Amino acid sequence: MHMELQGKHIVLGVTGGIAAYKAAELTRLLVKAGATVQVVMTAGATHFVTPVTFQALSGRTVFTDQWDGRVANNMAHIDLSREADLILVAPASADFLAKVAHGLADDLLTTMVLARDCPLLAAPAMNRQMWENPATQRNVATLTVDGVTLLGPGCGEQACGENGDGRMLEPEEIVEDLLAFLQPKCLAGKKVLITAGPTFEAIDPVRGITNLSSGKMGFAVARAAREAGADVTLVCGPVAQPTPRGVTRIDVRGALEMHAVVMARAAAQDVFVGVAAVADYRPQAAAEHKLKKDDGALPAIALVENPDILADVAALPNPPFCVGFAAESRNLAEYAQKKRDRKKIPLIAGNLIQHGFGGDENTLTLFDEAGQTPLHPGPKIELARSLIGHVARLLEHR
Ligand code: C5P
Repeated sequence: MHMELQGKHIVLGVTGGIAAYKAAELTRLLVKAGATVQVVMTAGATHFVTPVTFQALSGRTVFTDQWDGRVANNMAHIDLSREADLILVAPASADFLAKVAHGLADDLLTTMVLARDCPLLAAPAMNRQMWENPATQRNVATLTVDGVTLLGPGCGEQACGENGDGRMLEPEEIVEDLLAFLQPKCLAGKKVLITAGPTFEAIDPVRGITNLSSGKMGFAVARAAREAGADVTLVCGPVAQPTPRGVTRIDVRGALEMHAVVMARAAAQDVFVGVAAVADYRPQAAAEHKLKKDDGALPAIALVENPDILADVAALPNPPFCVGFAAESRNLAEYAQKKRDRKKIPLIAGNLIQHGFGGDENTLTLFDEAGQTPLHPGPKIELARSLIGHVARLLEHR
């Protein structure tokens, strides 16, 4: 992860629950992402993990006590929340949620939360029955109406040996949700369909023709669209990438399958982004059995052309806003604009193939009717966010 939280000051509240041990890892991830982290613990939390752990990881002394003598004016709750860009409470116990829902302030953390002038995010963590209890559900509904953002909880194995809802999200998931929270919701309510990765065109049961593509750029576009508030479906060829949170993923293999899955959904979309490196050709028919080496005779594989998924979506009677990708080894502007015309799409993102494939960083230039917009070279997620911002602006003026 790069320094995505540079310049952000986060107050991390830790309440009493066994998931408190995961808050240590969360602290490390937030610091690694560039945030300054001020940890505030409830008395209960200190029974599970000691403040020393958080002090070492955050590089700041931890506050646990409302009457802490270190704060000269005895206003720790005001001082601590005044500096914060946001307050994140993880784990958030049932008791903490209940207190905040009712405006109670009987310790440093709840007093600080009541006195805040910044967003509050909470990652609930509790036993399944405590989560399902109508009182907790009432409190959660109240908190949502009050504008508190709840991250999770997840479902799965619990420390008590049970299985169900109430498990705290993993630290990585909390950071991903927090980063999403910070992005502008410029595609709220929109439906976005994305293709990513290579396609694999079978020759026989064990061989095939494919393209070099890690899928990273397409996955970054899916994540950025989701962060912007869109309902995202990601259709991908064989890749080894984790699915971005909140994205619906459909795995496919060959171009024909990708074409069918996309065409079945395209008309209902607001935006279609073709990032996949689709194979231009496929073997006419895949052999049922593994091809054997025949003495002397060189095998010939008859190829047929694959459909152009992007061009077919753009040719629909009422097409979604279509975005293409063009990777060229030279003459980027000329080739990209020609491709845009040929496929009849409003926007194409082009890059020069120069750094090889599969990296986390890229260079992109956007080509549309108005001309070209070079994006700052950088991590693929940053480029994807810029691309999504550009798409949202063009959609607005359509
Ligand atoms: O024609 P070319 O492959 O260079 O165009 C690249 C763009 O077209 C990408 O957005 C890619 O996802 C899309 N494409 C497609 N179906 C194909 C070939 C390319 O959707 N068969």
